[in-house]
Amino acid sequence: MSWDVDQYERFKTERAQPFRDLAALIEPRPSMRIIDLGCGTGDLTRELHEQLGASETLGLDSSESMLQKASPTNTLHFQLGDIASFTTDRPFDLVFSNAALHWIAGHKQLFARLVSLLAPNGQLAFQMPANHDHPSHRIAAEVATSFGIEPRTVNVLPPESYATLLHHLGFARQHVRLQVYGHVLPSTADVVEWTKGSTLTPYREALPSDRYAEFLTEYTNRLVAALGDSRPYFYTFKRILLWATR
Ligand SMILES: C[S@@+](CC[C@H](N)C(=O)[O-])C[C@H]1O[C@@H](n2cnc3c(N)ncnc32)[C@H](O)[C@@H]1O
Repeated sequence: MSWDVDQYERFKTERAQPFRDLAALIEPRPSMRIIDLGCGTGDLTRELHEQLGASETLGLDSSESMLQKASPTNTLHFQLGDIASFTTDRPFDLVFSNAALHWIAGHKQLFARLVSLLAPNGQLAFQMPANHDHPSHRIAAEVATSFGIEPRTVNVLPPESYATLLHHLGFARQHVRLQVYGHVLPSTADVVEWTKGSTLTPYREALPSDRYAEFLTEYTNRLVAALGDSRPYFYTFKRILLWATR
């Protein structure tokens, strides 16, 4: 997928908070080897690497435009690749992912695969947006359908399903929670500025630029009609944070 990096980074501060809440769940251990799945530009990968004093960290992402912004070092590496098919013969002490796994279908199978990347006493830490029932996401899917585009599939499971899944995968200790992040935006229409940098990416890719402009107008109108024209607008955004170790 071709990401609009500048648009994604317009809400950099707001998007960093869930990352920091997730990082706070990790138990620091000496000389950890880390993989960050869907690392994006690598800014938060570097923060994680430094915060945990890791011996080696690998950021994996399938987007060339995101990875172009990454700055590798001797111990911080970046690799172009697909989370769904990545394998390794050197397991990691921490398998981490912030706001990326929701793009991949089949989470039961995916989690079983990701567990195979973990060293015996390793830790998993994942954060996934779970806002698909909010009008900002629901209306985007409806407008996509009316423009003849397949709407994005909802891949994220309910929080309790992740707790059960982690239990069945043999994790003795786990922390799974749904957290609501509130963002004060200048107006309801500014929700579009948020979703343009993430949720709408596949719709932007699927449409020629003039049709995408029409898509945005239709989406904004329907969104404001559904939510009311509030100034400021309080945008609630649900996310699942999970951590587990065996
Ligand atoms: C919303 S961004 C998050 C980036 C970064 N983790 C952060 O928190 O800033 C999602 C990232 O996941 C990547 N991604 C999505 N699906 C992927 C896949 N199947 N394999 C590798 N990367 C993927 C995208 O390219 C994008 O960079």
